[in-house]
Amino acid sequence: MGWFESEAFYGYEWKEVLICASIFLTLGGVIAVLVVAFAVVYPPKATADDAILHRFSLSPSSPAENSTVSYNITTTLSLGNPNMYRAIRYGPLAVAFSFNGSRFDESTAVPAFLHKAGKTATVRVTVGGASRPLKLFSAAGVREFAAENETGRFDVELRLDTVMRYKGRKAKCPLVVVCPLEIQLVDPAVAATAYQKTKCTVLRARKSGQGRTDDVPRFYGLFWRMT
Ligand SMILES: *[C@@H]1O[C@H](CO)[C@@H](O)[C@H](O)[C@H]1NC(C)=O
Ligand SMILES: *[C@@H]1O[C@H](CO)[C@@H](O)[C@H](O)[C@H]1NC(C)=O
Ligand SMILES: *[C@@H]1O[C@H](CO)[C@@H](O)[C@H](O)[C@H]1NC(C)=O
Ligand SMILES: *[C@@H]1O[C@H](CO)[C@@H](O)[C@H](O)[C@H]1NC(C)=O
Repeated sequence: MGWFESEAFYGYEWKEVLICASIFLTLGGVIAVLVVAFAVVYPPKATADDAILHRFSLSPSSPAENSTVSYNITTTLSLGNPNMYRAIRYGPLAVAFSFNGSRFDESTAVPAFLHKAGKTATVRVTVGGASRPLKLFSAAGVREFAAENETGRFDVELRLDTVMRYKGRKAKCPLVVVCPLEIQLVDPAVAATAYQKTKCTVLRARKSGQGRTDDVPRFYGLFWRMT
């Protein structure tokens, strides 16, 4: 009869082994959770919760790049900080609107702010302009406008450019939030229409200091798609 078959081993020591093993597993689990909570950082998440167009009219011109647009846009974004323990500090957020890939408004910025851990921050942006030029507008853009004008729903892209830093970390990294908005043109006298909440794409630089924010195609190449 081997020692491992003894009653004592089954009745007492196995239990002890199991208790020890479960203590180690529990400790391991707790350590893993702590590592995830403190060492792993998650980028913010963003959604466009609301957007209203009170005016969006194009004055087409020949050549197309001389076209101008008059508009009034109000939009509300939610930024979520999914980190349990880490606040995020954002630098000023530059706001840009484009239609068919052509920027027409870069007039506003959201002031720098501290985003507490686990919280959702609301960012509201209102812009308006009359007869503003559209950068690099093309004949395809004029056609696209005519088609969307038929339906009264316009695809406008909102882009936020900023630099963020997790609290307790030194590295600053450029962050870009791109929200494709499909906005219904509404009469200001009419009550608000239902807006379909949309998810925004959050792009983060691999390393701080890389990427030139004014160079869109090259800049995109340096970013990963985060959400
Ligand atoms: C288009 O804009 C350019 C530069 O602003 C100007 O020189 C040109 O005369 C304009 N063309 C027309 C047809 O208005
Ligand atoms: C602009 O509109 C044209 C015509 O509808 C379309 O083919 C093209 O993909 C649009 N470009 C962008 C950047 O949205
Ligand atoms: C629309 O934008 C213009 C600026 O071009 C501004 O003067 C006007 O007050 C805005 N209207 C609304 C309803 O926000
Ligand atoms: C857009 O549609 C409105 C009516 O819905 C019309 O008055 C306007 O001329 C159209 N604009 C263009 C550039 O087609």
